[in-house]
Amino acid sequence: MLVLLASIFVVHIATVIMLFVSTIANAWMVSDVGNISVGLWKNCTSADCSHNLLYGSEDALKAVQAFMILSIIFSVISLVVFVFQLFTMEKGNRFFLSGATMLVCWLCILVGASIYTHHYANNFKDWYPESHHGYSFILTWICFCFSFIIGILYLVLRKK
Ligand SMILES: *[C@@H]1O[C@H](CO)[C@@H](O)[C@H](O)[C@H]1NC(C)=O
Repeated sequence: MLVLLASIFVVHIATVIMLFVSTIANAWMVSDVGNISVGLWKNCTSADCSHNLLYGSEDALKAVQAFMILSIIFSVISLVVFVFQLFTMEKGNRFFLSGATMLVCWLCILVGASIYTHHYANNFKDWYPESHHGYSFILTWICFCFSFIIGILYLVLRKK
């Protein structure tokens, strides 16, 4: 039981870190030709990130930025609530509040990553034939899976 709680805790922290990295790093879509690497905020070639991001002012991108930031906030709140419940909650109860908060985080990632995939990732090949998904994009979908598993486990587990 303790081992399980400790592992969830570790995976939860890893998820928060990965969400941070994927939101901040400019590596959602990458093209080997011209060394282009594009994120939610900037358009980089090699080490120069001062290029104009073509769709930088589109509502769809703003929505992705907002949902990714919300997902970070909810994953941190869920972690804090979990630690709080670990020390204060009565034995036998479920970690309902942390689980529910983590599932809200999961929903934010679902919406943000879906909008990005639909609006940008799928169109990128038209702009850059040699492009592929960058590590930010992959990390985001890993966080999508992890946050769901963590959320469900919090709902199922009882405090011993
Ligand atoms: C990134 O910047 C380059 C160089 O200015 C430009 O050719 C390219 O279209 C830009 N790409 C995006 C996705 O904004």
